[in-house]
Amino acid sequence: MTNDNYSRRSALRNLAALFAASPLAKAQLDLPYTAAHVPSLDELVNVFEFEPICRARIPKQNYDFIAGGVDAEWSLRHNREAFDKIALRPRMMVDTSGLDVSTTVFGDKLEMPILIAPTAGHGLANPEGEVATAKAAAHVKTILILSTNSTQPYEKVAQASTFPKWFQLYPGPDLEGTRERVERAVGAGFKLICLTVDAGWNSHRERLLRNRLRTQTPPGVNSPQSARRRQREGEEPQKPPPYRLSTTLMHRLDWRFFADLKKYAKVPVIIKGIMTGEDAALAVKHGADGVVVSNHGGRYLDYAAATIEMLPEVVKAVNGRIPVLVDSGFRRGTDILKALAIGAKAVCVGRPPLWGLGAYGEQGVVRVLELLQSELALAMGLSGRSNLASIDHSLLKYQ
Ligand code: FNR
Ligand code: LAC
Repeated sequence: MTNDNYSRRSALRNLAALFAASPLAKAQLDLPYTAAHVPSLDELVNVFEFEPICRARIPKQNYDFIAGGVDAEWSLRHNREAFDKIALRPRMMVDTSGLDVSTTVFGDKLEMPILIAPTAGHGLANPEGEVATAKAAAHVKTILILSTNSTQPYEKVAQASTFPKWFQLYPGPDLEGTRERVERAVGAGFKLICLTVDAGWNSHRERLLRNRLRTQTPPGVNSPQSARRRQREGEEPQKPPPYRLSTTLMHRLDWRFFADLKKYAKVPVIIKGIMTGEDAALAVKHGADGVVVSNHGGRYLDYAAATIEMLPEVVKAVNGRIPVLVDSGFRRGTDILKALAIGAKAVCVGRPPLWGLGAYGEQGVVRVLELLQSELALAMGLSGRSNLASIDHSLLKYQ
């Protein structure tokens, strides 16, 4: 990736090509700009509008890595469609003049119940990568969860801001290496470990295969499936499908592994990728400090249910004992409000901050988060809820 990718000329060229290839794009989004006019940041009115600009400004294979899901991308679509099955029951004549969307998560006060989900390779969206994202998160006072597969060194990201940050853990290359990874992250100042458990096996990403990529991720991203990791772990290079089966730590994870991790981590450990009440109950039983209901943004198991559909049973199983977070498909303030009403402590967003980063760098990430925050605040105010504590299940009407 060269800086030329970010020049105005190439952006215009790409945007023109995008619209030429997709004549419906402008009409569908009703964008107030044309191929001859890349909008300024403050012209964008919702987070969806960042996506085509990001797409125009970064190389196609990077965009496809960010956008893509697995197989037929049913979960990717369904994550969004499932929000349409829930409507709102707003209350009136409530004084909401003290509207406040702040929350406290693991002891830290955040200005919104919206965190940045861990995503690999922010450098694919912008050369500043995770450093820019960390600064943006600090600016709006929320948490960045840094991926194990950060393009920037963990320490550099930790130092990019003084605001608290969490570290997402992909175990590897072996048990000892995992412990070193955790100790390195905790040593760098990350305040919490978020163990991802839903990505044990390769996923069949057809967009990437069509781009003739033999690995899951574009060069430069050290994904759990990447060539570098496989080499370290003594595996043979991955062949194109049908995939050969191999044995790695990632798909040998079990509750014993978690018990060990809890012993040495020395910071709270939450589990990301929980989708059922059964696993949520086990997470509580084994001492998890929180869970994230997630289908990985539709990127691993296709036909995994939408997370907004699975959230109620997880909340019920957890029964208030630990915080429940949720991600996958959150794009609107009302999406977030619905999750809070079901009982989520907060939501995480994966692709929207990457769109912001790819489209406008650090300022784009700031704006994406501000838009979500302000949409949530307005939806709360119009529902007669002036703070997060006043949001409950009675706000929801299932269609
Ligand atoms: C991810 N996700 C992810 N999760 C994780 O635990 N570690 C990782 O390194 C990554 N990498 C990653 C890269 C990209 C490009 C995407 C889009 C996603 C999953 C992520 O944390 C989150 O679960 C989803 O992105 C949430 O869905 P939305 O908000 O993207 O729809
Ligand atoms: C992904 C891995 C890196 O979703 O988590 O691409």
